[in-house]
Amino acid sequence: MRLNAPRGTRDIIEGEAQAFSRLETLARGVFIQSGFEEIRLPTFESEDLFRRAVGDTTDIVEKELYTFQDRGGRPLALRPEGTAGVVRAYLEHHWDQSGGAKKLFYMGPMFRAERPQAGRYREFWQIGAEYFGSPTPEADAELLLLAREVLTGFGLSSLKISLNSLGCADCRPAFQQALITYLSERRSTLCEDCQRRLEKNPLRCLDCKIDGPALQQAPSPADHLCETCRRHDQELDGLLRGVDFPFERQPRLVRGLDYYTRTVFEITSQGLGSQDAVAAGGRYDRLVHQMGGPDQPAVGFALGMDRVVRALSGDTVPRAQEPKKIFVAVAGESVGGPAFQLMTRLRQSGWRVELGARTRSLKSQLRAADAWGAKALVIVGESEWAAGQVAVKDLRTQGAQQQAIAPDTLEHWLTTTLGRD
Ligand code: HAM
Repeated sequence: MRLNAPRGTRDIIEGEAQAFSRLETLARGVFIQSGFEEIRLPTFESEDLFRRAVGDTTDIVEKELYTFQDRGGRPLALRPEGTAGVVRAYLEHHWDQSGGAKKLFYMGPMFRAERPQAGRYREFWQIGAEYFGSPTPEADAELLLLAREVLTGFGLSSLKISLNSLGCADCRPAFQQALITYLSERRSTLCEDCQRRLEKNPLRCLDCKIDGPALQQAPSPADHLCETCRRHDQELDGLLRGVDFPFERQPRLVRGLDYYTRTVFEITSQGLGSQDAVAAGGRYDRLVHQMGGPDQPAVGFALGMDRVVRALSGDTVPRAQEPKKIFVAVAGESVGGPAFQLMTRLRQSGWRVELGARTRSLKSQLRAADAWGAKALVIVGESEWAAGQVAVKDLRTQGAQQQAIAPDTLEHWLTTTLGRD
């Protein structure tokens, strides 16, 4: 029986794989320029980490976590997101004790047992950034600007950036109580999930696919902010307007993870259907403390690489300059060594070179060169090599003649024939 990739996973191949690499390179450049350092996190962590950080009553933990036990019986989980692991690392390496400020970025696959559909996978890729130690709205603004810079730098244009504040431990309870009262009055109209959420995590009802749209008149966190949260939010507003950063207020925007305080945001891209969120994030000032560390504020975001790449149709994806492709065909068993040396030399000086298999006929090697899209052909033949020559041919021009040249002049011939760009 043939085996396929598990449901909700896929091979990232060809143009999509190239686009992934370009997005990673672009993001890495943007983050490093802004003082972020890369961190490569474990793909699995203790299950408890995600329960405590993301929240026991979130869908991500309740329904979507891939959990397993290792041979020692330790409960582990595949990471559903990166923030929890970064916080764990921040504390494990005592970065909280060295002045507190730390800016980290990461990229890699995340795992959630969601119902797969276009743009929603069980293994998907995120690029994320987390900024620890700054309580100021400047940090929120910096992260928002970075997220947008990566997305627009990659070519996404029709972006909508939604912003809200969820308040803090001081003002959240009053909002939560107002929401519970409002929802309780409509209890019988709520879906089964929301009836349960009402007891355990009422904020999540605002985000429910079924009930959310009907809750536009529900109390919003923005109406219950304490003075400090309100000031933070207004200052952020001012900072963003000061740099002409486009955004919209969405008073009922909540997030699927429990750790957020104050600022939350989501960036959507048009034309992606229902799974249109390409990036999301916010402030989580309580999480470091909650995970056993000191009071250290933090803010971050993650973008979904699969969706970002999907948002660009094939031909608008910026193409990287590819080095010119050269195919070295080997005509004769005894010239395998010289052909291999030639290939190595050309690769070292930056050409993209493939070597034919000397066990194949010349004809089949030429077919392979063609299928690969080679721009120039070099044939190393036994008698030609003995006479101090190789044959070369420009494959871009129909009917171009094959010519014999000395191997030492090969690079010169390639440069003058193909150009170096
Ligand atoms: P999130 O909103 O759960 O936030 O995920 C961020 C992004 O990952 C989403 O906007 C989406 O583009 C992508 N994504 C999520 N689930 C899937 C899926 N099943 N298939 C494809 N793409 C998906 C977080 O993960 C937070 N850790 C973000 C953050 C960082 N907040 C603070 N720091």
